[in-house]
Amino acid sequence: MKLILLGPPGAGKGTLAESLSKKLNLPILSTGNILRDAVTNETQLGKKAKAFMDAGKLVTDDLIIALMDEKLSKCDGFILDGFPRTIAQAEALDKICDIDIALSLDIDDEVIIKRMTGRRTCPKCGMTYHLEHNPPKSKDICDKCSSELIIRSDDNEKVVIDRLETYHKQTKPLKDYYINKLKSLDAALSIDVILNNAIEMIKI
Ligand code: AP5
Repeated sequence: MKLILLGPPGAGKGTLAESLSKKLNLPILSTGNILRDAVTNETQLGKKAKAFMDAGKLVTDDLIIALMDEKLSKCDGFILDGFPRTIAQAEALDKICDIDIALSLDIDDEVIIKRMTGRRTCPKCGMTYHLEHNPPKSKDICDKCSSELIIRSDDNEKVVIDRLETYHKQTKPLKDYYINKLKSLDAALSIDVILNNAIEMIKI
């Protein structure tokens, strides 16, 4: 199955991708996690991407399309988290393969801004947690790889607002692009309910 997750920053794409990956036994390709690794490792891609990410802007389509072209050519099925994010990226994806379903996580900006202050992220494996809604078993320690959790540098309120603006301008139009494959989820519900609703929509 080839599945994409659409939705604003903080809607819960990464959280849902993790659970669906276990249920469906599919790999996750998260452009955000790949880019953060590249920034940490100071690769050419990371050096080019950093300023865009810090400003809450999108990394340029040419860099992202080249990156995903290489990754997707190695996968038969996948969950895409954070790609595509522009019409140009969606058109590039169409040239690589046909996707089966686009799940859209719909939620108001105000809920996201509040939610983001509680997010904690593993800098090593990319797992995300929430202080209230999805806490790690041990305080500030990743359940999966035992690394110390951090607050992402782009999770401060100003950058979150910039990321939301970028989403509304450049990514939200993808909901029309995928209208024939789109299923919408209420992302303000609890994490477990969203997972159950997603599974129902995918009809495993
Ligand atoms: P990326 O990492 O993709 O960030 P994003 O889209 O802004 O999404 P987030 O990771 O912030 O949120 P999420 O929807 O995964 O939510 P999560 O599950 O963590 O991208 C970062 C940057 O990289 C971009 O700004 C851009 O610069 C660049 N980039 C990436 N891809 C690109 C592309 N294709 N093209 C160009 N540039 C690109 O959940 C959020 C919090 O809420 C967590 O704390 C979680 O525990 C909690 N939570 C989740 N679900 C619920 C729920 N139902 N109820 C309560 N809390 C919940």
